[in-house]
Amino acid sequence: MEEVKKTLYSGVQPTNNLTIGNLLGTLRSWRGLQEDYDCIFAAANMHAITVRQNPAELRQKTLALIALFLACGVDPEKSIVYVQSQVPAHAELCWALNTFTYVGEMERMTQFKDKSARHADNINMGLMDYPVLMAADILLYQTDIVPVGLDQRQHLEISRDIAQRFNNVYSPTFKVPEGLYPKMGAKICDLLEPTKKMSKSAENPNGAVFLSDDKDTVLRKFKRAVTDSENCIKYAPETKAGVSNLLTIYCAFSDKSVAEAEREFDGKGYGDFKLAVGEVVADKLAPLQAEHNRLLADKAYLEKVMADGAERAYKLARKTLSKVYKKIGFYQV
Ligand code: TRP
Repeated sequence: MEEVKKTLYSGVQPTNNLTIGNLLGTLRSWRGLQEDYDCIFAAANMHAITVRQNPAELRQKTLALIALFLACGVDPEKSIVYVQSQVPAHAELCWALNTFTYVGEMERMTQFKDKSARHADNINMGLMDYPVLMAADILLYQTDIVPVGLDQRQHLEISRDIAQRFNNVYSPTFKVPEGLYPKMGAKICDLLEPTKKMSKSAENPNGAVFLSDDKDTVLRKFKRAVTDSENCIKYAPETKAGVSNLLTIYCAFSDKSVAEAEREFDGKGYGDFKLAVGEVVADKLAPLQAEHNRLLADKAYLEKVMADGAERAYKLARKTLSKVYKKIGFYQV
């Protein structure tokens, strides 16, 4: 008998440069997850337009994101890799789910409040509807598991609420998804403000290491990383945020334990330590960048991956949408 795997869904927005935090927290685990789950990975370009984008850049970044998924080891034969806007069912289900979502609860979403503050000149309906579109993404595929960062937890919770509401009004229609949150050590902080999460939209780009940074840039950023004046390389996130963050990064990239790393750097100065962290990161990024560039040079192949992925996704999505349309009383083509 063929083993039935659970379905796992995740999406990434093709907007700003991704950082090593995104790699460690999300992308790096995808290769392995493909063994245990039927995986569906999306470039969430419909989410991206909730803040103003340059069209040519958005198109290019979408292609680059698909290439990055593959460079990180996602196998498009095994998993479904696609671009959200190429599957119209997302917008269609979003509309239906909007009628099961309250304005008040959307206004209270943390990310909506943050983004409204940052983009005060463009608080558009899409920005407010962002969580409902995300719920549509997840629910369309009868998803069991959604690996997300903690910043997306509230969005996943609302997806579960919306699914349950719909199921209660009609009859079981959607699977209610579970979150899969990264293990400890996955939280990577800004190099200049080590109590804040490393962010792709950080004010000072020197605080974040981007996946596209070359070796010199990586070394320079680590050289300038904020530490403290104790000259002691110990993991103590409460009192030594900078050093602890560097240790976390070092361990994640070298697959060493914190204890091993502390022993290795015992008695060494911060200068040597920062150089070592920079080197291990740059050396791990190099093959990923090479593979990314190789894929990007083959646009025809990437477009084929996108077209195949969209077709496979569409078939699954259509099934759920048909169920929904039937239950709510819509005629269908
Ligand atoms: N909102 C997510 C983020 O910015 C991206 C995303 C869109 C997503 N749709 C999704 C993540 C569905 C998980 C599942 O990180």
